[in-house]
Amino acid sequence: MKKLGLVLLLLVTTPVLADEIPLDPFSGLKMTGDWQIVLGNCIACHSAKLITQQRGTREQWLQMIRWMQKKQNLWQFTPEIEDKILTYLAEHYPPREDQRRAAIPRDLMPPNPYAPPTQEPDDAG
Ligand code: HEC
Repeated sequence: MKKLGLVLLLLVTTPVLADEIPLDPFSGLKMTGDWQIVLGNCIACHSAKLITQQRGTREQWLQMIRWMQKKQNLWQFTPEIEDKILTYLAEHYPPREDQRRAAIPRDLMPPNPYAPPTQEPDDAG
């Protein structure tokens, strides 16, 4: 009966979701599709919460992955694996209507025009 107790505990503690996909009690990832590929590749460096609280289109997720590959030592994926990861993320963590878009990596942003002036080259020209 220990198992039944655990199942009941999970039922009580798992938040009710509109789409009713069960959550992995360890990572909080939606347990559907290729979620285990994401589990295996995406939580070595940070909590899965960083993923589950994030939203984005396929293109935005791809940008985040490229940013981590460029700046955070995230390894390269084969095209098949990358496609599975992106499909899972874009399908289950798409942009929310009521939320701001996903953050744009800082290095893709233009310079801040309101930043205090830096050194002016006086011999410019
Ligand atoms: C090699 C280490 C590493 C792996 C593996 C990794 N990440 Fe990251 N990721 C990072 C680092 C470092 C940050 C920045 C954390 C911070 O700002 O505290 C980050 C940040 C993020 C963010 C937040 C981005 C933002 O704009 O706030 C998301 C979402 C994310 N990762 C998703 C993923 C996904 C999805 C995968 C799997 C495809 C993955 N990560 C695998 C290192 C990694």
